[in-house]
This record gives sequence, structure tokens and C-alpha cells, in this order.
Amino acid sequence: MYLLAGISVVLIAARSWEQPKTPNLAAGQKASDCGVCHTEIYAEWKQSTHAQAWTDVQFQAELHKDPEVGWMCLNCHTPLANQQAYLVNTTDSIRNIDRIRNPAFDPAWQAEGVTCLSCHWTNEGIASAHKNVNAPHPTVYSPELKRDSLCNECHQAVARIEDNLVCHFNTGQEKLDAGVTESCQECHMPSVERVMALGGPVRTGGRHLWAGSGIPKGDESTHPGLDALDFKVTAQAQAAPGEQVPVVITLVNARAGHMVPSGDPERTVVVRIEGPAGNVEEWRIGQVWEWHPVSRKLSDNRLKPKEARDHQWSFTMPTEDVELKVSVDHVRMSSENLNYHIEKAEKGHPGPSAEALRAYPTKRRLFSHQTQISVRDGP
Ligand code: HEC
Ligand code: HEC
Ligand code: HEC
Ligand code: HEC
Ligand code: HEC
Repeated sequence: MYLLAGISVVLIAARSWEQPKTPNLAAGQKASDCGVCHTEIYAEWKQSTHAQAWTDVQFQAELHKDPEVGWMCLNCHTPLANQQAYLVNTTDSIRNIDRIRNPAFDPAWQAEGVTCLSCHWTNEGIASAHKNVNAPHPTVYSPELKRDSLCNECHQAVARIEDNLVCHFNTGQEKLDAGVTESCQECHMPSVERVMALGGPVRTGGRHLWAGSGIPKGDESTHPGLDALDFKVTAQAQAAPGEQVPVVITLVNARAGHMVPSGDPERTVVVRIEGPAGNVEEWRIGQVWEWHPVSRKLSDNRLKPKEARDHQWSFTMPTEDVELKVSVDHVRMSSENLNYHIEKAEKGHPGPSAEALRAYPTKRRLFSHQTQISVRDGP
């Protein structure tokens, strides 16, 4: 049996990124330690993007962009004090900070990103979802575990830190605005009946995969997607040469409890429509931001929960049959941004190597559709 000991400071932060979320913990409470008994939950967590919140190639690239302010990324990506090499003492100015070397720093714990205790830590013991748990460690029944507020500590943060430095994760507010009643957990941690720890009873709990966009990270883990969108293409089967052929692409945000895409403002859904040779259109769904000199959102055409949207397109029918091709991608990182990081890496800037960046998947194909529109002779 071990206790949650070693508590040194209790810091109450106004905003999640200002201080580590929890005080120092004793060693031996990494996810890999919990995983000795919570084998299935550990295996799921390991596949999740939460386990990669530190090692993620895109995160590491962005972290090295402006190293002076990198410290403020850590309290969401590596929220426990033990996961941080330095603790930040003052936040009067985000660039002129007082850093203290952290004797409790554990690099293996840092690599775990959003680790078990990011969500399961309380002052008195491990936050548990059930009452009367018979565990070899202190547990505290915590109804908050099943509430949006747990997720929103990191997934809902809107702050302007400097003119051109903003933090903008609005998923929790998007959900409130749409009046969605299910919790984040109901969709992202669906129910499962199983033994929760070796030797324990079978109970109903939640999956620890946090399936979301399903955009892979380029390693062996699968990052399953939840697939929020429905998709339809409407086009006639035949057209006469010279005729204007209308094509309607319909996307419905049928299953998400917030906008699609959500999260990082860089995320987009890109629909590519290809008709006769050279006739291509891109329909981009997402936010457009101007970052300099003062960051501001210029537009936002994302799909609200349950919203259906039609995109109208047309082409002139040529004298031969047309292969109409439509693809839909969920994009995490734009190619401009990826190329920017590759160029910096090639010049020796610290961060992931150009090779690692080139191998990093930036999107996932959601749909692809192909139909033939044939030439109709006569009227
Ligand atoms: C030595 C084995 C062991 C280790 C190590 C261990 N646990 Fe447990 N844990 C258990 C057992 C056994 C239970 C009780 C299971 C039950 O009653 O279903 C339990 C219960 C829990 C519960 C409450 C489950 C509920 O039903 O709500 C949580 C949460 C939990 N552990 C998280 C953790 C975390 C996080 C760690 C690592 C910091 C950890 N455990 C380390 C064995 C362990
Ligand atoms: C308030 C908490 C918070 C802070 C502070 C924060 N992040 Fe994040 N970050 C998140 C959440 C939540 C996600 C998951 C949403 C997503 O992936 O779009 C995320 C995802 C990311 C991603 C992956 C983007 C994607 O679309 O998969 C990158 C890269 C990233 N953050 C970089 C940073 C950097 C660099 C900083 C500091 C300048 C930072 N973050 C600060 C919460 C935060
Ligand atoms: C992002 C937050 C988060 C992280 C990270 C996380 N959990 Fe959980 N955990 C939860 C929530 C929420 C529940 C309640 C799920 C439910 O019962 O519907 C839960 C429930 C549990 C339970 C009780 C069984 C159950 O499913 O209700 C155990 C045991 C547990 N977690 C262990 C772990 C371990 C071990 C890790 C790390 C390998 C971990 N958790 C990581 C949020 C988290
Ligand atoms: C301590 C901060 C933190 C907490 C608490 C947290 N998350 Fe996350 N979450 C993140 C970060 C950071 C990422 C992005 C990791 C990456 O891609 O590198 C993320 C990624 C995700 C993703 C995957 C996004 C994708 O790419 O598909 C989902 C889904 C998600 N979180 C849901 C939840 C839910 C549901 C909860 C509450 C039970 C929760 N998170 C609690 C920080 C957090
Ligand atoms: C009604 C079910 C539902 C609820 C409630 C819900 N989500 Fe989601 N979420 C989804 C689906 C479905 C997706 C997959 C979107 C897609 O197809 O890319 C998703 C995707 C995400 C993503 C990845 C962003 C993206 O563009 O794909 C994050 C992060 C996320 N959810 C976090 C949360 C958080 C945090 C909450 C609570 C505030 C929440 N979700 C509530 C269903 C839900």
C-alpha cells in the first residue's frame, strides 16, 4: 500500500495553464505503475492521444516555436508537477518568469502526457467513480469524474495572453451553446462491463480510449475515430454535352456533441470535388484566423451539432463521360504549417527532426465517393 505523499505546495490557479494542476506526488504513481493492476484500462489509455500529449510530433514542433512561452503549454499537456523539470513561480509577465528546478521531476512520467492522475488525483486519494471500492490504495468517491468540468479543465480554455498569442479551445462552450445533454464521458468513454483491476469484481465502467477524430499519430497505436459526420453526394446519372450539371454535397454533424471540427483552431474538414479534367473545387470547413499583429478569428463555418449543410457545385458537361470524385478529409495540421516546421528542422532548429515531421500523418480520409456521369445523346 502506498499513500499520496510528498505534497509540497498547493497552488490555486485562476486558469488551467498558469500552474501545475496538482502538487507533487510521491514516486510510483505513473500510469505504468497503475497498469500493473489496471491492465486493460492501461492498455486502452496507452493507445489514446492523451498518452501522447507530450511525445506528439506536432506538439513538440509547436513547443519549440517560441520556447520562452513553452512553459504555459505544460499544465494541460503534462499537468502534474512531477512531470515538469522546472516549476514556474511568478506569472506577472509570461516572458519574464522565475523558474525553479523541480527535484521531483521524473522524465518517464513527463513522457506519459495526460497520465492517470491528471484526472484521478485528489488531496485525499485516487478519485474513483464508484462508492465502497476495496482497493489497495486510498480512493475518494468523486462524482466530478463523470462531469464535463473534468474535461473542460483542458478542453475549454479561451484566453488572450499577448496580442498574437491566444489559447483557444472552445469544445465545452460549443456543447453548452448547442444544448447537448450527454456528458463528454458518455460519448468519449462508452460503458463497458469488466474487471477493473486484477482480482476485482466485474463492474460497469468507461472505456479509456477517448476516441475522437481518429487522425493517427504515425506509430503502432490506432487512435480509433468516432465518426461524427454523415455524407451524401447528389448528382444526375446522365447529361448532354454543354449542359450545366449541378452537384450537391451534403455533410451532417450527426453524432458530435460540439462543432466539427473542434479543439485546435487549425483543424479543418476539407472536401475535394473533382469533375472533368482540371475542374476541381475545395470546400473547407473550419475556422480562419489572422495571427499577426493581433490574433483574431476572421471566419468560422464549422458544423454545429445536428447541423446539415449543402454545398452546391456545377460543371459543364464535356463530350465524354465524367468520373465525379469527392473526398472528405479531417485535417489536423495544414501542409503550410508542416512545411514551415520541416524547413526550420532542416536549418537545425531544436524540436522533432525533419524526418519525423515528414512521417507524421496530418489527416484522415473520412469518405471517398466516385460516380460516373455519362453523356446523354439527344435531348
Ligand atoms: C496493487 C494493484 C493496484 C495498483 C498498483 C493500483 N490500483 Fe487502483 N485499484 C486496485 C483494485 C484492486 C481496486 C478495486 C477494484 C474494484 O473494486 O473494482 C482499485 C480501484 C481503483 C479505482 C476506483 C475504481 C472504481 O470502481 O471507481 C481507481 C480510479 C483506481 N484504482 C485508479 C488507480 C490509479 C490511477 C493507480 C495508479 C496511480 C492505481 N489505481 C494503482 C488495484 C490497484
Ligand atoms: C488549456 C489547456 C491547454 C494549453 C494551455 C495548451 N494546450 Fe495544446 N491541447 C489542449 C487540448 C485539450 C488539445 C486537444 C484538442 C485538439 O487536439 O484539437 C490540445 C492539442 C494540441 C495539439 C494537437 C493539435 C491537434 O489538432 O491534434 C498541439 C500541437 C498542441 N496542443 C500544442 C500546444 C502548445 C504548443 C501549447 C502552448 C503554447 C499548448 N498546446 C497549450 C490543451 C491545451
Ligand atoms: C482524461 C481523464 C482520465 C484519465 C487520463 C484516466 N482516467 Fe480513469 N476514469 C476517468 C473517468 C471519467 C472515469 C469514470 C468512467 C465511468 O465510470 O463512466 C474513470 C474511471 C476509472 C476507473 C474505474 C472504472 C470505471 O471505468 O469506472 C479506474 C479503475 C480508472 N479510471 C483507472 C485509470 C487508470 C489506471 C488510468 C491510467 C492508465 C486512468 N484511469 C486514466 C477519467 C480518466
Ligand atoms: C489535463 C488535460 C486534459 C484533460 C483533463 C482531458 N484532456 Fe482530452 N486531451 C488533452 C490533450 C492535451 C489532448 C491532445 C493530445 C495530442 O493530440 O497530442 C487531448 C485529446 C483528447 C481527444 C482526442 C482528440 C482527437 O484527436 O481526436 C479526446 C476525444 C479527448 N481528449 C477527450 C477528453 C475527455 C472526454 C475528457 C474528460 C473525461 C478529457 N479529454 C480530459 C488534454 C486533456
Ligand atoms: C453526443 C456525443 C458527444 C459529446 C457529448 C461530446 N463529443 Fe467530442 N466528439 C464526438 C464525436 C462523434 C467526435 C468525432 C468528430 C469527427 O468525426 O471528427 C468527437 C470529437 C472530439 C474531439 C476531436 C475534435 C475533432 O475535430 O474531431 C475532441 C477534442 C472532443 N470530441 C472532446 C469532447 C469534449 C471535451 C466534450 C465535452 C465538453 C465532448 N467531446 C462531448 C462526440 C461527442
